[in-house]
Amino acid sequence: METVVSLENVVRCFGKLAAVQNLSLEIGTGEIFGLLGPNGAGKTTVINLITGLLRRDSGQIRVLGFDPQTQARQVRRQIGLVPQETNVYGDLSAMDNLWHHAALYCGNLDTAGGRIEELLRMMELWNRRNDLLRTYSGGMKRRLALARALLHDPQIILFDEPTLGVDVQGRHVLWEHMKTLKSQGKTFIVSTNDMNEAGALCDRLVIVDRGKAIALDTPEALCAGLGRDIITLQTTPDVIDPERLFAGLDVQAVTRPEPGWLRIETRNAETHIGEFVGRMSAQYRLESLRIARPTLDDVFLHHTGRALRE
Ligand SMILES: Nc1ncnc2c1ncn2[C@@H]1O[C@H](COP(=O)(O)OP(=O)(O)OP(=O)(O)O)[C@@H](O)[C@H]1O
Ligand SMILES: [Mg+2]
Repeated sequence: METVVSLENVVRCFGKLAAVQNLSLEIGTGEIFGLLGPNGAGKTTVINLITGLLRRDSGQIRVLGFDPQTQARQVRRQIGLVPQETNVYGDLSAMDNLWHHAALYCGNLDTAGGRIEELLRMMELWNRRNDLLRTYSGGMKRRLALARALLHDPQIILFDEPTLGVDVQGRHVLWEHMKTLKSQGKTFIVSTNDMNEAGALCDRLVIVDRGKAIALDTPEALCAGLGRDIITLQTTPDVIDPERLFAGLDVQAVTRPEPGWLRIETRNAETHIGEFVGRMSAQYRLESLRIARPTLDDVFLHHTGRALRE
């Protein structure tokens, strides 16, 4: 896989706050690469460093061989950005929004009309092309913002929180559009704080927390790498001493996500589950029990001791 974007020991501070700390990544052509992390992790900062909107304090960044800081023009030609806040003109139609953008950023306007039609059709917005953007749903606005980022036919699209505030159906529509574009050879760098989105969309991802990369791999490998299952159970009353109750059952970690609930990390949950239930029901009333393979939330919790949503 050819590397299209690389970061090497990139650092960016805001005053005393290190928003990005020694980040190194290589993103290959035709990948959907994710930056997954909670609010404030540094995802938008990373995207702005790659586009050249922000200057790094140290380290190297290359976009198709160019440095966004010193070769901004070459980099901008190759990248499209969909910012976190959809900054479209509500009082203009979809057509006018795209024409406005084309006039500012596309050198050759002769082909812009055809390109605008092609993109509006691709995003299934063609029959709404004359409607004012303030009448669009959140998902439609995100699709229009993606169409706008694609106008100059960039190789690499940076998509900051693709589906924030978009409903379930709209999310799937957007993901499908991104996967289609990927199959045509585009590379995506997306940020998200939603592990479902990261799992469903990304080929590989880096989990970031407080500006640091804490794990990087495919979603499947990150989850499988934990090498354990998660048992979640609810009892009345609370289990008093779970470590003692479950002694000998290969328990790796026990936490209480909320009163009445226990979250148990164990290897080979199936093998032990009968024994778990037997010991529990001898002393407590079992209200609910679930065995699950680890999710990206569990991976985050494992590395940071905090839930992704805290
Ligand atoms: N221009 C700025 N001036 C000062 N601090 C900033 C600035 N931009 C970002 N920060 C800080 O840097 C840290 C990382 O912010 P960033 O916006 O990159 O996070 P994020 O992962 O995109 O979060 P979110 O999920 O909320 O969008 C935060 O603590 C934020 O307050
Ligand atoms: Mg952000």
